[in-house]
Order: sequence, then C-alpha cells, then structure tokens
Amino acid sequence: MKRLTVPAIQRRKVDGTTAEPLVMLTAYTARQAQLLDSHCDMLLVGDSLGQVIYGLPSTLPVTLDMMIAHGAAVVRGSYHSVVIVDMPFGSYEASPSAAFASASRVMAETGAAAVKLEGGRAMADTIAFLSQRGIPVMAHVGLTPQAVNALGGYGARGKSEEEHAKIMADARAVADAGAFAVVLEGVMEDLAIAITDSVAIPVIGIGASAHCDGQVLVTEDMLGMFDRVARFVKRYENIAETISGAAERYAGEVRSRAFPTQEQVYRPKK
Ligand code: KIV
Ligand code: NA
Repeated sequence: MKRLTVPAIQRRKVDGTTAEPLVMLTAYTARQAQLLDSHCDMLLVGDSLGQVIYGLPSTLPVTLDMMIAHGAAVVRGSYHSVVIVDMPFGSYEASPSAAFASASRVMAETGAAAVKLEGGRAMADTIAFLSQRGIPVMAHVGLTPQAVNALGGYGARGKSEEEHAKIMADARAVADAGAFAVVLEGVMEDLAIAITDSVAIPVIGIGASAHCDGQVLVTEDMLGMFDRVARFVKRYENIAETISGAAERYAGEVRSRAFPTQEQVYRPKK
C-alpha cells in the first residue's frame, strides 16, 4: 500500500460532498501507528498527548520537542496514512514567520505530511503563509482546546446565533486561506451541517455530527482507556479493564511464584 497524500485527501471531497467519509484517529507511538495505519486515511499526532500520555491538565504545556518526538515515531510506524502533527500552544500564534519556523522543524524532523493548528480568522494569514511555502495545513475550529482559558471550558460551541456565525466565518476563512482540511470539534449539529455544506475542503468532525466529510477520535478514548470521556466519544473497547486485569493476574502469579515457569527460564542445553 502506497502512502496517501494531502492532495489525495483533498480530492475525496467532490462538488461539496465526500462519498465515503475520511477516517482519522490519533496516534502517538510507533506501535500504535502500526496497528491503526491500514484502517485509516489520516493519523493525527494530536497535542492531546499532553493529557493522554503525559498526564498534563490541558494541552497548553505541550512542547514542540514533544510533538516532534512523537511525530517521528508515528511516521516510522506507518506507511499508508497521511501523518499530521499538531502545532502545540505557543509555537505558531505570534506571527506567520514564527509559525513557519516551528512548522518547518516539524516537517523536517518528523517526515510528516502536514501540520494542524487551532484557530479560524485569526490564523488565516498564517495558514496562507505556510500553505504557500510547502507546508500543508489542517485547521481546527469550533471547540479549540488550546483556547480553554478564553472559552471557559470544553463545552459544545455554536449554541448562540452569534457564536454560530463566528464559527462559520472561521471555517470559511481557513478554507479561503488554503487549509487542505479542517477539524470541526464540539459544535451543534446544525452548524456542522452548514459548515460541511459551505466549504469546499474536507470537514473532519469530532463531536460535530455524522454529516461531516470524515471523523476523528482520540484513539485512547475510543479504546476505553479512560473512565470519563466527552459525550461525543464512542468506546469500541474497554482496554482499561484489559490492562488492569492483566496486571492483576501477573501480580498474583509473581506473588504466588506461579510466574515464571520452566517455559520462561534459560537453562543450558543438554
Ligand atoms: O489533539 C487532538 O487529539 C486533536 C483531535 C481531537 C482533533 O486535536
Ligand atoms: Na489537538
């Protein structure tokens, strides 16, 4: 299987619709990427790794070096999906040239095909600057977790008419600026439908309705790694139970000396 490309992803939306929805999951490690790769169109190295891997309280403390280390691992572990790396908070907002300096490091040091950054109208110039200089950009509008302090929480967006109009303007602005796709997170269904129908680029939803051109979830959420998840998450497994169950059996066998057995022990050949 040859690796998909950014233009191939963009071409999946024809005349405003995507016949078969695009599939995206997050990945942070090489082995995880290997297991997800053949099932996905895109793997997102999300800054959600701050909470998921590092136990941080938000995505704000995530650094460019963290994103690069995990981005490189995911590229090494995949050969089919387009790999997209999140730009962490503080690495791109100040100016288009600051964003280029950070994004070019991501591209050069990970081998990823694109970066993702949060923001609509305010980031349009930056998206144009990067896109015109060889760095494909996926935008992220609606509920943008890096803006949690400004938004006041992680609640759904687009409830008021004013907010609806703002997020619609954000989506149009990033599409006009040259983003190849846009993540739409945590918005009311009517807004997701309106945005998907009014921009030419693929709209990848997370908590944004079935009408979007594709879907993304945080893999660990989808696997049931956490007790508490957002309403929009569907758990396809209960990996938390699997892991703690295995640890419990292992611990019991170590304490009772049932593990290791002769099968796991080195002895001289006779
Ligand atoms: O960081 C992340 O995982 C994301 C997705 C939820 C879209 O940005
Ligand atoms: Na993110």
